[in-house]
Amino acid sequence: MHISQLTLSHFRSHKFTQVPVGNGPIALFGSNGAGKTNILEGISLLSPGKGLRRANAADLSKSPENIGWKLNAEVVSGTNSNLIETSWKTTSSRTVKINDKLARQNDLAKLVRVVWLLPSMDRLWIEGAEGRRKFLDRLTLSFFPKHADCVLNYEKAMRERNRLLKEKMTDGVWYKALESQMAKNGLLIQLNRKAALKKICASQNSSTTMFPAAELSLSHADSDMPTDEAEFILSLSESRHLDILAGRTLIGPHRSDMEAIYLPKGIPAKDSSTGEQKAMLISII
Ligand SMILES: Nc1ncnc2c1ncn2[C@@H]1O[C@H](COP(=O)(O)OP(=O)(O)O)[C@@H](O)[C@H]1O
Ligand SMILES: [Mg+2]
Repeated sequence: MHISQLTLSHFRSHKFTQVPVGNGPIALFGSNGAGKTNILEGISLLSPGKGLRRANAADLSKSPENIGWKLNAEVVSGTNSNLIETSWKTTSSRTVKINDKLARQNDLAKLVRVVWLLPSMDRLWIEGAEGRRKFLDRLTLSFFPKHADCVLNYEKAMRERNRLLKEKMTDGVWYKALESQMAKNGLLIQLNRKAALKKICASQNSSTTMFPAAELSLSHADSDMPTDEAEFILSLSESRHLDILAGRTLIGPHRSDMEAIYLPKGIPAKDSSTGEQKAMLISII
């Protein structure tokens, strides 16, 4: 897959920039503040989510005009070519069009696979699990486009369940449908993540590079993650009283973590040197 055309309109520092792109590797160079990272941020928004700076749509709008923004790209994959447009106006929420037809953000996952590594991710192995989960989900999405919908559905159901927990609701009727949604999607999330880790480990082992391989695995905070739907539903209903005390859901894929072992030394990533930690991230992508 490659991007064959990219245009940024009123996006960050770019009033109207057409980026000439081919299908080879590209190096962007220019003085500080020229708008290089803004271009990369634009590319990251061709996939579902808030992009590499996790910015709000309004902040992406070129100031001082602040009239909204638009990104257009042509994405080529084999003999297939698709036109993607994503834009935001001050009067409406972000929209996505694929070949001129309105689409959902998650539909982008089928067309564009984007993974990024930023200087701010240097501390990924030693900081909180959330960063590692986000990174893992982005990697997983690049293998399994449907992962985006599983995450969306799971999070939506969990948000509603958390609202019930905060209201100290004890009537099971309110929880049942949400917990069954969470179990169904939560297990798919975990299956996708595991399959992605397997693919990454296999490709690391079969390639010879200067970058050392990392052994990757999925762990779960406090307790084990349930392995089938009925068990998951039961665990959720049994943990309601604890969850009410905590004010949030304590089991599920949102509490999972990606662990890595630096293979040449057999040492966990978090205890490896800064250089070894960076090398592992590069090796993974
Ligand atoms: N919403 C915005 N409107 C106008 N300019 C912006 C906006 N957001 C960021 N900028 C400007 O974009 C410039 C370049 O950003 P960036 O792409 O990060 O530069 P670099 O080429 O060094 O990577 C910065 O000077 C910043 O002030
Ligand atoms: Mg930059």
